[in-house]
Amino acid sequence: MTRSDTAQPEGPSGYREAIDLEFAAATKQYAGTDSPAVDALSLKVPAGEICVLVGPSGCGKTTAMRMVNRMIDITSGDILVGGRSVKDRDVDDLRREIGYVIQQIGLFPHRTIGDNIATVPRLLGWDKHRINARVEELLDLIDLPPEMRKRYPAQLSGGQRQRVGVARALAADPPLMLMDEPFGAIDPINRDRLQNEFLRLQAVVKKTIVFVTHDIDEAIKMGDRIAILQVGGKLAQYAPPAELLLNPANAFVDDFVGADRALKRLSLIRVSEIPRSALGNANGGIEIPDDTPLRTALSELLGRGELHGRVVDEHGEAVGSLSVDAIARLAAGERL
Ligand SMILES: Nc1ncnc2c1ncn2[C@@H]1O[C@H](COP(=O)(O)OP(=O)(O)OP(=O)(O)O)[C@@H](O)[C@H]1O
Ligand SMILES: [Mg+2]
Repeated sequence: MTRSDTAQPEGPSGYREAIDLEFAAATKQYAGTDSPAVDALSLKVPAGEICVLVGPSGCGKTTAMRMVNRMIDITSGDILVGGRSVKDRDVDDLRREIGYVIQQIGLFPHRTIGDNIATVPRLLGWDKHRINARVEELLDLIDLPPEMRKRYPAQLSGGQRQRVGVARALAADPPLMLMDEPFGAIDPINRDRLQNEFLRLQAVVKKTIVFVTHDIDEAIKMGDRIAILQVGGKLAQYAPPAELLLNPANAFVDDFVGADRALKRLSLIRVSEIPRSALGNANGGIEIPDDTPLRTALSELLGRGELHGRVVDEHGEAVGSLSVDAIARLAAGERL
């Protein structure tokens, strides 16, 4: 047998170690078109991180993602998974280590939830016991009761189906996951819940993930790094969310990120991240637990008509005071 990543060592969490991903001037020009859909895309995704591809419709997000598992051929440049060119790989072998969640979930309607989740392990020829154990483990992980494995997709809510789609992609424990607008078709309240669930899941499984969305708020919430693409498949900026909000690389990014980027940035910073020396002396005012995001702290203060609050640590000890003014200076990008 040739060297296969299906034999990779298990990580400390009991899940397979994630691997890194690199786009190296990856370009796709579809036959019969006169400009590329993805134009010399270069970026690195470190192992275990979520990279969000975001941008307007038609900017090449799905194309970029599908070149990774070779559902679309690369015209020029390369994509490396764990340092190896995807072009040198046996396609089946490559896809076995890449979980794929497609835009419309794509569960098989005539198969039970259990059989849906077991799809890839069956293809890999796992024995019955191992498949069974895996299905049970994944149902637990996505927080669905074990008896749901006997149901059919039509008997689940949209959000539950979505979670099964994620479980199916995770079934063979792929080190790399591709997720194309996985929460796109879900109402805002359930989307928020699924996003939170997924982030908790990711803290356990620590996969390398390429996540596509056209929603900048979702990108900021989910991404360790965000790649903003412009129509024509050009990378406008690749940066962690806070940096993107603070220093948009050009007018396109600035516009795409939106006018309330100062407030978005505040939701990424917790009170505990402000140096203690920058806090004022604690005296009176409302209590602000130090794990509160600054955006929440600001709305609490303003909502109660207070100009400052008392910051308390996890033991309830007051550690200083935080003013509306200081939050406003942080929102403007000033370091305290
Ligand atoms: N098979 C194809 N042949 C020719 N052009 C294509 C093909 N598939 C996609 N395109 C074009 O390539 C560009 C990028 O398409 P892609 O599906 O990657 O966009 P996207 O960013 O995923 O868009 P959306 O947000 O709408 O899903 C578009 O202009 C699209 O029309
Ligand atoms: Mg798409």
